[in-house]
Amino acid sequence: MSRQPSVLRLRCPAQSRFVASLRHALVSFLRAHDFKGQQLDDVTTAAGEALANVVEHAYTAAASQVDAYIGLRANVDAKGTLALEVYDGGAFVERRPTRGRGFGLRIIRAIAGRLTIDTSNGTRLRMIFERKR
Ligand SMILES: Nc1ncnc2c1ncn2[C@@H]1O[C@H](COP(=O)(O)OP(=O)(O)OP(=O)(O)O)[C@@H](O)[C@H]1O
Ligand SMILES: [Mg+2]
Repeated sequence: MSRQPSVLRLRCPAQSRFVASLRHALVSFLRAHDFKGQQLDDVTTAAGEALANVVEHAYTAAASQVDAYIGLRANVDAKGTLALEVYDGGAFVERRPTRGRGFGLRIIRAIAGRLTIDTSNGTRLRMIFERKR
């Protein structure tokens, strides 16, 4: 089925208390585009890991609370393919995973059809989900 491309754009402070609202808004948007069941859960899980990473890793404690933001952009194209971006204005932290950590990006890689990470200007994760029928 061919439809009109549609975009959701959100931006809020990079604090954990805003993450649930971002997730809920994303789920409502995706439901309105007929995402459901396992695929809806998968996208929500991947988004949750990316959002948690911004809150935990993107900004130093000294960063201004005003400038520290999370951005989310969800684009559903005419074929129903979802491009989901989670981005921030902080700095990507290269770190060896410690025991019991380092699963978030692996989970996203396992779930999303494609993942790219651009760290040239803040951090921008771009995840592609082909529509499952
Ligand atoms: N938005 C981001 N800004 C800065 N660094 C990031 C960001 N996202 C990920 N990272 C870096 O990549 C590492 C790996 O992220 P990943 O989500 O896989 O593991 P984690 O967050 O350390 O642990 P877990 O997700 O298992 O709780 C992080 O520890 C961090 O150093
Ligand atoms: Mg993580």
